[in-house]
Amino acid sequence: MDTQATQPAVRTVASTQSEMTEIILPNDTNTLGNLLGGRLMHFIDLTGAMAAYRHARTHVVTAAMDHIDFIQPVRLGDLVTLKSSVNRAFTRSMEVGVKVWAENTRTGAVAHVASAYLVFVAVDEHGRMQTVPQLKPETPDEVRRYEDALRRREHRERENARRKEATLVTKAQKDGAVR
Ligand SMILES: CC(C)(COP(=O)(O)OP(=O)(O)OC[C@H]1O[C@@H](n2cnc3c(N)ncnc32)[C@H](O)[C@@H]1OP(=O)(O)O)[C@@H](O)C(=O)NCCC(=O)NCCS
Repeated sequence: MDTQATQPAVRTVASTQSEMTEIILPNDTNTLGNLLGGRLMHFIDLTGAMAAYRHARTHVVTAAMDHIDFIQPVRLGDLVTLKSSVNRAFTRSMEVGVKVWAENTRTGAVAHVASAYLVFVAVDEHGRMQTVPQLKPETPDEVRRYEDALRRREHRERENARRKEATLVTKAQKDGAVR
């Protein structure tokens, strides 16, 4: 079925909200018994993708994961809860925010341990990019995230252009040295 043809033009942030909880086991931790950063990034990618899937209703690929703050360590045995939602939809891409909390199962104490922003691109089953519905922010917090997402996109574009330019300069210098 052509899901694109049946897409609504606009979706709400609430319709994209996603959540997952994991218990941290020995295989997830480093030698200090703290959750590995890479494992946490995997959980963040999965939870982020859930929100993107709910928005795009087609396949999505991770284009970028930026601005991860690891605020405090997560310990072996903690329950980690991740919540995600789409902050803004562009043409074929969406920015998703993910927030992570850890709960100490003995004391019940809950702490905010990490936050991240990711960009997902919608594609069909052949990998061809697809347009996504627009996002309608409804609450003041959603409006703030929606506006911030545009600033981050502009920052990402400037940073990508700067990196491309630096790569070209380095390549030209290497080529010059070889001749
Ligand atoms: C993501 C990907 C599809 C983008 O392809 P591309 O040809 O560079 O795309 P374009 O320059 O035409 O941009 C397409 C959209 O992606 C966005 N995009 C592309 N690269 C991006 C980046 N590094 N960061 C953020 N957004 C990006 C563009 O802003 C654009 O969004 P818009 O249509 O909403 O304006 C391609 O780079 C890719 O397939 N990457 C590998 C993805 C992957 O394997 N992820 C890990 C496993 S899921």
